[in-house]
Amino acid sequence: MNEWHFPRPALAEHYLKLLNLGITSSLAIIAPRRKGKTLFILQDVSPIAQKNKYIPVYASLWQNINAPHEGLILALEEAIEAIDKRAVISRLLQAKIKKTTISNELLGKMEVEFADSPTKPTNEELAYLEKLLSELEKKAGKKTILLLVDEVQHLATSKKFDSLTHTLRTMLDKRQGSVKTIFTGSSRHYMNILFNEPTSPFYHFVETVPFPELDDKFLAFIKKTLAEQHDIAVTLPSLSRAFESLDYSPYWMMKLIANIVTFKMTVLEAHEHVLQLLEAAEGFESVVKKLKPIDRIVFLALCAEKNPFSIELMEQIGRETSVKGVAANVQRSIQRLSENHLVSQIHRGKYFIEKPGLRRYLIEAKSAPEGT
Ligand SMILES: Nc1ncnc2c1ncn2[C@@H]1O[C@H](COP(=O)(O)OP(=O)(O)OP(=O)(O)O)[C@@H](O)[C@H]1O
Ligand SMILES: [Mg+2]
Repeated sequence: MNEWHFPRPALAEHYLKLLNLGITSSLAIIAPRRKGKTLFILQDVSPIAQKNKYIPVYASLWQNINAPHEGLILALEEAIEAIDKRAVISRLLQAKIKKTTISNELLGKMEVEFADSPTKPTNEELAYLEKLLSELEKKAGKKTILLLVDEVQHLATSKKFDSLTHTLRTMLDKRQGSVKTIFTGSSRHYMNILFNEPTSPFYHFVETVPFPELDDKFLAFIKKTLAEQHDIAVTLPSLSRAFESLDYSPYWMMKLIANIVTFKMTVLEAHEHVLQLLEAAEGFESVVKKLKPIDRIVFLALCAEKNPFSIELMEQIGRETSVKGVAANVQRSIQRLSENHLVSQIHRGKYFIEKPGLRRYLIEAKSAPEGT
């Protein structure tokens, strides 16, 4: 549909194969924000799933951020209606693609990640959800329902959503043959709570699969589309440099392309412009102001996958900051970084960087303010 969408059919087929083989009935794709999860599910997975006798049903739990059950109810109602009217399911998916693309452009998307007044679903709503799935299952006949649940981390962000989480798990558990699920989400922290905590209803229920970064083939596709559709020549190394510094985010890369096509910028000009947009959107300036000097050192060490408790690093902290380079201070620094969602620690000693663009910003912003 969209000339700029780089398709990944092999990856989509791989995921579907895991479901077909019956190894698991539920998969989870976890990747940071703006990495192309939603469009991959809608534009790559759904059409192939349809060809393989699935009925894809896409539900975003952010449809109503305060009431995630509404997103599921709406998606099931729409799918039932489409089957009743003998409408084509793919038209429904096209509408979702359009909606995703538009909502990606809404300002402040990054800030509204938590419900401000989370609402517990009523027992009637939960029963209705179950009823809808049964109805859809009947209408699906020999086809299998593929439930695509987006922003699933949201379930773990409020206790008010616990009953929905339980209901969802029970609904899916009962139907492991006839309903399969792909969950997508962006917070490793909350996805971990949802899928790996022994107390969670989803514990050991979902297989987490990697979502590889887009690579050189994506860049070659961009180069080719620019040349063939817009008569613009660019070099691969310049695209590659830009893509790396934009943290391999297709969202920011497409912003860069838009600048090249619309304003006839060079790759370098567009690259610089988009970096500024990214920094503003992520609020790096205010993030950096809150960091203590020790936090910067620890954050950069974690980015470089170095042990934050090494003698070298503690010596560097002692030398370059006004605090002592001791384990307790490093521990407190990691705590601060976690609370500010800059890193997350899933297993002991294993850290994930939650704001990767910050590394480059810290290295380049030499004039950063000094604090203690
Ligand atoms: N395969 C692709 N080819 C080209 N551009 C893409 C591709 N995937 C994503 N994009 C671009 O990136 C943007 C973000 O994609 P998408 O909404 O799928 O990301 P996401 O990971 O779901 O983000 P979020 O975590 O914020 O929901 C899209 O609007 C599109 O411009
Ligand atoms: Mg998304």
